[in-house]
Amino acid sequence: MQEAGFQALGIDAEYLRVEIPDGDLPAAIPQLRKTGFRGWNCTLPHKEAMFALCKETDATAKEAASVNTVVALESDLRGYSTDADGWEDAVKEAWNLDFRAQRILVLGCGGVGRTLATRLAGKGCRALVLCNRSPEKANRLAKEIQPLAKGSVGVVAWNSPEFGEAMQKTNLFIHATSLGLSSHDPLPLPKTYLRPGLKIYDTVYRKEFTPLVRQARARGAEALDGLGMLLHQGARAFRIWTGKEAPLKDMRRAMEQAAGRSL
Ligand SMILES: NC(=O)c1ccc[n+]([C@@H]2O[C@H](COP(=O)([O-])OP(=O)(O)OC[C@H]3O[C@@H](n4cnc5c(N)ncnc54)[C@H](OP(=O)(O)O)[C@@H]3O)[C@@H](O)[C@H]2O)c1
Repeated sequence: MQEAGFQALGIDAEYLRVEIPDGDLPAAIPQLRKTGFRGWNCTLPHKEAMFALCKETDATAKEAASVNTVVALESDLRGYSTDADGWEDAVKEAWNLDFRAQRILVLGCGGVGRTLATRLAGKGCRALVLCNRSPEKANRLAKEIQPLAKGSVGVVAWNSPEFGEAMQKTNLFIHATSLGLSSHDPLPLPKTYLRPGLKIYDTVYRKEFTPLVRQARARGAEALDGLGMLLHQGARAFRIWTGKEAPLKDMRRAMEQAAGRSL
């Protein structure tokens, strides 16, 4: 996707994959610089550690307390988080939602769930409810983002009766656990909660769609998977590195070719 973008604009650059073990980031950064990297994306488990290593961070990184996009300046690193904006771009493109009218349940309060819940708290949605397998994470996050929210930020225990009640009132369900990465994973919620009129954004993506997206569509709900978010967070990173508008059509075509399907 990124290389298709570089090619479309005649930029002489490559986008390479480098695996760095957890905890090795401080030692790896001088190596990346020496190799000639002018910037990078980083993902699990490095986003929080990268935030701490960037001397400058913009508002999106501070909001998420994590960094997924880095510009390597002469002596420092400048960090950004394009996840929340990328997710918003994807949702806008598909559904053009007014968040203030939405009752939203976010399942999963790890890195991505935290980033999206923080952004949504500031959007003044009608209701925001959090849920996480380990409940203390959801409770902590709700307390942190409460000052940003218009109403109260609720918390329900995973697969409890309260979770079922909250699902009935929800218009937009955001799935942000890692369940679904494998086709053998169970659904993150009982399939009876998937109904017509419910919108589902699954941040996870797979070539042949996640079990959640497949089930949701079969039961008449509108469901998107995380490929749109991946495209748009990448397009925003492209803009940050190059200072140029991302050639979205070319990047989308490359991604769809790799995925073997359309978004
Ligand atoms: N579309 C995109 O562009 C994009 C970008 C980044 C990530 N993602 C997707 O988002 C997912 C989450 O990423 P992350 O960075 O937030 O990861 P993370 O920080 O490791 O958080 C993982 C989350 O999944 C939950 N979880 C893990 N295994 C579970 C299980 N067996 N049952 C129930 N809950 C489980 C965790 O709950 P506990 O707190 O209880 O452990 C936690 O809430 C990834 O799998 C990835 O596919 C998509």
